[in-house]
Amino acid sequence: MNITVMGTGYVGLVTGATLSHAGHNVTCLDIIKSKIDELNKGKSPIFEPGLEELIKSGIKNKTLSGSIDTENCIRESDVTFICVGTPSNKNGSIDLSYIKSASSSIGRALRAKEGEHTVIVKSTVVPLTTEETVLPILLKKCGWKRERLGIGMNPEFLREGCAVEDAQKPDRIVIGFADEVAKKVMNELYKKHQCPKLECSPRTAEFIKYSSNSFLATKISFVNEMANMCNAWGIDFKEVADGMGLDSRISPLFLRAGAGFGGSCFPKDVKALAAASKSSKIESKMLDASLEVNESQPLIVVEMARERLGVLKGKKITVLGLAFKPDTDDIRESRSEVVIKKLIEEGAVVTGHDPEAMTNFKEIIDIKMANNSKEALDGADCLILMTEWKEYIDLDYKLIKQRMNGNVVIDGRRAFDYRRMEKEEFDYKAIGLG
Ligand code: UGA
Repeated sequence: MNITVMGTGYVGLVTGATLSHAGHNVTCLDIIKSKIDELNKGKSPIFEPGLEELIKSGIKNKTLSGSIDTENCIRESDVTFICVGTPSNKNGSIDLSYIKSASSSIGRALRAKEGEHTVIVKSTVVPLTTEETVLPILLKKCGWKRERLGIGMNPEFLREGCAVEDAQKPDRIVIGFADEVAKKVMNELYKKHQCPKLECSPRTAEFIKYSSNSFLATKISFVNEMANMCNAWGIDFKEVADGMGLDSRISPLFLRAGAGFGGSCFPKDVKALAAASKSSKIESKMLDASLEVNESQPLIVVEMARERLGVLKGKKITVLGLAFKPDTDDIRESRSEVVIKKLIEEGAVVTGHDPEAMTNFKEIIDIKMANNSKEALDGADCLILMTEWKEYIDLDYKLIKQRMNGNVVIDGRRAFDYRRMEKEEFDYKAIGLG
């Protein structure tokens, strides 16, 4: 199939690269020319394990290319995936402006096309967007009869850091279709996938995505609240999570307590769903509580440091981990940002380190960055772990002790081995370890 993917962010790039790897002819469209130039040279504009290899092979085999020529690409293809961003408005509600402009340009490009065309929304959009925003704009701009147009909603469930694997071997594929044209196209596109496929309406597909992300975010906020109780009652939440996870109804996944959830999805999506629900006059107490816990959770890390250091003013504090989670350079909504802002506000002298995210982080807060994780420890009064990169967990505790000035270690991800920490006589405190 000839496919156009509109928007070369995380979802667009991974979708384009994996579909081209599966044998389709894919053109990735974007308005930013430099991104497209990189892509055509076989380079990935983002850090994501395995993605650059897929892009390189697609470019080499001529099944993948980048373009800024919307009209031509869409006219030459059978299917267009909308993968543009859906950021938040100031009040947390979803900003659909990129979705609207993408729909307009697709509609305009279709005017000169013969036959059928299917448009599939992959961007995360609140329920009813595909049917009540995308479809009317497309029809108005292209002037086609409804029968020629296929309209689908096919949410993406990939995680950053393992996006390629998630896209190639998904747990499930949700095929939201508004007509038989779109249903047929999506079934054809995914025919080789063995996983369960759920056929439903576009609004159901949209809501499956939001409910899934909101459930996982709420699960994290819930375990974080439980972990905070463990801190007060001398209980190790890791053991509690092991006990809970053995119940197949709960599952052992997403039970890691810590400084809260970040990234470009959970915070934004929970806020957008809460706002959408309120605008439909439905209360969203669970979502609001989940966001509230997530706001206060990183500040607990700062309080733990303050309790041990007495005052934060003038103290040299090293923060290991700036990305919102390991194996990514993405710093969006990173809990480290909240912690570092608070530490600076309190007058601490902060040094940061991250294996991949330092350049991105410097754009939001200009702190001193260490050349490597060992150098980051030099002379620190306190070490705060915020992202559980393997290279941090594997650090030699004796070496940490030698290089630091003090012995306070605050673990915002409960990732260090607390027994070894105690053996080395660190003043160690972790979220969820009482
Ligand atoms: C999330 C979902 O997991 C994907 O299924 C979804 O497709 C994606 O959002 C999206 O909507 O595009 P992602 O944001 O890449 O994926 O990252 P996760 O691995 O889910 O982690 C999100 C945050 O939760 C991170 O800050 C992580 O540290 C935190 N987390 C995760 C915990 O604090 N505890 C856990 O047990 C798991």
